[in-house]
Amino acid sequence: MHIKESTGLFALANLAAPAVGLSFTCQPGQSCWPSLQQWDAFNKTVSGRLKAPVMLGSPCFPSSKDYNKDVCAEVLGQYGNGTFRETTFGSTQFTQWESCGAENCYPGLVQPQASTCSLGRISPLYVDALEPSDISATIAFAKQHNIRIVLKNTGHDYLGRSAAANTLGLRTHSMKNMTFASSFSAKNCSAASNKKNIGIIGAGVTAEDAIAFFNNHGMMITMGACHTVGIAGGYGQSAGHGPLGPSKGLMVDQAVEFDVITADGVFRTINECNDPDLFWAMRGGGGQSYAVLVNYKFQVYPQTKWATWLFNATITPPSSNVTENTVLRDVLTGMSTDQESWSKAGVAGYNNILPESLTFLEILPADGDPLTTLKNLTAKFNTLLTTHPGINVISSTYQQFDSETDFFIGQNTFYTPNTAVGLSSSVPSRLITVDNFESSEKIDTLVTSILNGLEAARVQLGEALASGANVFLLKTAPFNTPDAANATSTHPAWRKTLWHLVYGVSYEPGTPDSTANLMMSGARAAIDKIQAPLSVQAAYMNEADPAEPDWQNLFFGENYGTLLAIKKKWDPDTVLNCYKCVGYLGDQDPMYSCYGSNPKASVEYPFN
Ligand SMILES: Cc1cc2nc3c(=O)[nH]c(=O)nc-3n(C[C@H](O)[C@H](O)[C@H](O)COP(=O)(O)OP(=O)(O)OC[C@H]3O[C@@H](n4cnc5c(N)ncnc54)[C@H](O)[C@@H]3O)c2cc1C
Ligand SMILES: *[C@@H]1O[C@H](CO)[C@@H](O)[C@H](O)[C@H]1NC(C)=O
Ligand SMILES: *[C@@H]1O[C@H](CO)[C@@H](O)[C@H](O)[C@H]1NC(C)=O
Ligand SMILES: *[C@@H]1O[C@H](CO)[C@@H](O)[C@H](O)[C@H]1NC(C)=O
Ligand SMILES: *[C@@H]1O[C@H](CO)[C@@H](O)[C@H](O)[C@H]1NC(C)=O
Ligand SMILES: *[C@@H]1O[C@H](CO)[C@@H](O)[C@H](O)[C@H]1NC(C)=O
Ligand SMILES: *[C@@H]1O[C@H](CO)[C@@H](O)[C@H](O)[C@H]1NC(C)=O
Ligand SMILES: *[C@@H]1O[C@H](CO)[C@@H](O)[C@H](O)[C@H]1NC(C)=O
Ligand SMILES: *[C@@H]1O[C@H](CO)[C@@H](O)[C@H](O)[C@H]1NC(C)=O
Repeated sequence: MHIKESTGLFALANLAAPAVGLSFTCQPGQSCWPSLQQWDAFNKTVSGRLKAPVMLGSPCFPSSKDYNKDVCAEVLGQYGNGTFRETTFGSTQFTQWESCGAENCYPGLVQPQASTCSLGRISPLYVDALEPSDISATIAFAKQHNIRIVLKNTGHDYLGRSAAANTLGLRTHSMKNMTFASSFSAKNCSAASNKKNIGIIGAGVTAEDAIAFFNNHGMMITMGACHTVGIAGGYGQSAGHGPLGPSKGLMVDQAVEFDVITADGVFRTINECNDPDLFWAMRGGGGQSYAVLVNYKFQVYPQTKWATWLFNATITPPSSNVTENTVLRDVLTGMSTDQESWSKAGVAGYNNILPESLTFLEILPADGDPLTTLKNLTAKFNTLLTTHPGINVISSTYQQFDSETDFFIGQNTFYTPNTAVGLSSSVPSRLITVDNFESSEKIDTLVTSILNGLEAARVQLGEALASGANVFLLKTAPFNTPDAANATSTHPAWRKTLWHLVYGVSYEPGTPDSTANLMMSGARAAIDKIQAPLSVQAAYMNEADPAEPDWQNLFFGENYGTLLAIKKKWDPDTVLNCYKCVGYLGDQDPMYSCYGSNPKASVEYPFN
């Protein structure tokens, strides 16, 4: 019922009244919406780069003009391939952000597909920007016609911020320039000049592109866990944590200069000396909020060796009640006790904990002999795991790789399942700061809260789904790079963090809402228990629950007020906006309708 109503005339009639007190609210069907002639004229100002998206799943819909069985077979085969997904504007990495209410273009992996492929949240038109002038022209057109723009790079955003229905898309993903500068001088800025080993990347460059390019110059980069993420986009403007976090810091720590287009359409090169407030805000204050980033210039590092310890085991749980799972308690207590010394030594890690299994990867990138150091640091914990009667070891392997590239390829079996896309996913989370580890009493409280969280999730989920209860610890925080001068605007709690704790939920597109909602309530029940004893409440804005109520404090901490003032200075009309970003306009803004109970999916070009 809803599906039909919101694609047809009924939806257009509903949209006829413009929202009061908000700008850039013009919607298809309203008299303010540009005519086809105006779109054509605009297309010429962006060198023909205005495009109507083809939805990824549309070749699978007999009712679609794109219907094609062979192409559909390829789409189904590549549905979980992040690189494949990001080549298409008509997709997002996580499928729920392609949908709007009940409308979607899911190719029928779980349930029979809907009768029509809908654009859902995907913009009906987008500019595939190649040149800075494309961005300026798009901003000017959006301002002239009172249309909201949405910036999209790879579409990895966990809060769905790179897709918004009935907006004009501005795609940055095709801007893929890359340069290596062995010496670099920041523009008109002696303080930031005479730097060595600076990478310069366009807004659309992914980790995969950059790892390969800089490796050819003998350099490694502060990448994350997923090679298809756009490192200059949401990653590099919010934090950007990865295996080099404990030794080199976050991606934002590496930034030396940006080229940007501000909301007035002007191209600016910004750094510590030129527009330092804007530069600061874009070093951690979030994407799509202050300006459009064109080029990201950042510190890269000579390749080192990478030592790893991969551990994989099942658990014989003494009780189905996780609160009474003494095996997990022993493991979490042992790990927590050693954690600060590991982090101080530059060890990063990813630990997947389920009531009945453990998969751990500990990583030490360093010159010299990191393998011996890693073995030494983890010896006590290794003995605990390998001699524990409740743990059934599948494998426990130390290895050393010659470069970041070899490490990433070598640990593919670990990363692949932990970075799955082409499904719906959400990651309620908290940053766990060092004070929670400072005494055995604190560790006991932390461990108990995690076990209580897992148990609360299992109770919510019920027997059929309980085995999915999990906690993922990302030990990638910039613990050894304090940022004493506040050069970045990322949440200050990152500097005191030892674990970025995530309760991940994922399900196939088309899973019944009742099941999806149950899984989300399981995750939220777990986070409620885990966050209860924490003295610092903080979460990584890029990997968090979109429903967090206190998001200003949680995502930005004490920086929120300053960031908002800078946003208002550089973007006084709110040309840029996104969900629970600095200056978020609230659910009543039409661009957010798909998050709410009155969803209005995108109307297809040519809007009739
Ligand atoms: C599988 C997976 C693994 C991940 N692993 C990590 C990890 O290890 N470490 C980590 O830190 N994060 C990780 N992330 C989170 C990642 O940082 C965010 O999803 C991030 O938002 C991706 O940025 P993007 O530009 O690629 O994505 P998009 O969804 O395209 O954009 C994200 C946000 O940035 C804005 N934006 C994009 N380009 C620009 C631009 N040029 N100028 C201004 N704003 C822009 C968009 O409007 C949007 O609001 C992971 C995400 C996924 C899906
Ligand atoms: C914009 O112009 C290009 C080149 O002429 C054309 O291929 C494209 O279809 C046009 N876009 C739209 C939406 O008409
Ligand atoms: C993923 O997709 C990309 C882009 O289409 C393609 O080049 C690559 O081969 C695909 N990977 C796999 C494993 O099929
Ligand atoms: C990319 O590099 C080319 C060649 O130097 C240049 O013409 C173009 O403007 C650059 N693009 C961006 C977005 O900087
Ligand atoms: C150069 O930098 C100084 C501050 O270091 C600033 O006052 C001046 O406006 C800058 N000039 C240009 C052309 O950007
Ligand atoms: C799990 O164990 C705890 C502690 O023994 C107990 O308080 C709780 O009621 C148990 N939960 C269930 C569902 O039995
Ligand atoms: C680790 O190194 C320290 C200092 O060199 C040494 O005292 C200790 O015995 C080593 N521990 C193990 C388990 O090898
Ligand atoms: C861990 O072991 C399981 C069961 O054998 C296997 O399926 C999985 O791939 C292993 N994980 C890693 C990262 O080796
Ligand atoms: C950095 O910010 C903190 C508050 O987050 C403040 O206490 C401190 O004085 C600031 N330091 C500098 C050098 O501005």
